[in-house]
Amino acid sequence: MHTPYYHYNTRVLRNTLGALLAARADDERFHVHYAVKANARPELLHIIASKGLGADCVSGGEIEAAIAAGFKPESIVFAGVGKADWEIQLALSAGIGCFNAESLPELEVISQLAQAAGKTARVALRINPNIDAHTHEKITTGLPENKFGIDMRDMVAAAKRICELPALQFAGLHFHIGSSILDLSVFARLCERINELQNELEAAGLTAESINVGGGLGTHYEDPDVHPIPDFIGYFDTFRKHLQLRPGQQLHFELGRSIVAQCGTMMSSVLYVKEGRERNFLILDAGFTDLIRPAFYNAHHKIENTTRPNEPATARYDVVGPICESSDVFQKDVQLPPSQRGDLIAFRTAGAYGEIMASRYNLRQLPGAVFE
Ligand code: LLP
Repeated sequence: MHTPYYHYNTRVLRNTLGALLAARADDERFHVHYAVKANARPELLHIIASKGLGADCVSGGEIEAAIAAGFKPESIVFAGVGKADWEIQLALSAGIGCFNAESLPELEVISQLAQAAGKTARVALRINPNIDAHTHEKITTGLPENKFGIDMRDMVAAAKRICELPALQFAGLHFHIGSSILDLSVFARLCERINELQNELEAAGLTAESINVGGGLGTHYEDPDVHPIPDFIGYFDTFRKHLQLRPGQQLHFELGRSIVAQCGTMMSSVLYVKEGRERNFLILDAGFTDLIRPAFYNAHHKIENTTRPNEPATARYDVVGPICESSDVFQKDVQLPPSQRGDLIAFRTAGAYGEIMASRYNLRQLPGAVFE
């Protein structure tokens, strides 16, 4: 396989899923949906579906991919601020488990389309809980200035509207506050907010069958070999400890990054070592079209020269791609062994939001994939 390509280690994925399921500890109230947006490679989806996880989808295309990979339609939740009519119709005819609705006009449209299809749609309300996840501004979602969800103050009226509208059933509340969260106290604060909102809902005579807390658990980008498995135990325990679930109430999670990030590595080759007057550049055949996270979010991926694993890192390079944009920089001033044309360079922890965000800008080829 020529570079750039993604190398997926399915053993790492299986170990991660094993740890996730062990941490869930057969708690039948806990339902984990894999957030397909993180990586939709059929080979990976298939493994995840075979472990009995549900799917969290944000488009008609993701619903089709999830069903094709073996996810049960009733285990699919469908989120997104802008669901198109054809996507809602597809979800209705597939018989998905729940729509996560994000605005009042969307409720009206789902009701009309469900009536026309002769179906009842289960709908959860996505509430914006006004909690700062203290993560990168481009992946924080739970603040009033973000486009997501319904304001907490409008929750009761929106839930009542669901109960009034034909062909809709009120399923409960949905939240998602951001991504790449390693500080578990952020989730504890989310739980406290949900406790308050549940009291308010009940005071208005409404009950939520289910609570969906979204995704967002982070993974270790700095040191993937030291921390290959995310802290699923601490994560689930935070909800066990802080969230007051009502008797019979179900708790849903939508995890993406924490499930697939560590199983993927983006592989590239050194095209040129350019020794400048001020800095030395390692020019790779991979650019932000292959892995956009560093350019888009200033994200850090551990960079390794896998051709020289045992040589001391005595050189410093700005590691850059070939794309005609000055933002096509993976990382500046990286300590690596003195490198040469043809060396293989690995970007670790790239299984989530890596390959799936690739583009054909500059009419480049999409990266390939190998599985081990
Ligand atoms: N549920 C909802 C409603 C979401 O918006 C997301 C992610 C997830 C679940 C899954 O979150 P996770 O467990 O993966 O954190 N491209 C960015 C991340 C964008 C996340 C978007 N929403 C990145 O590369 O960091």
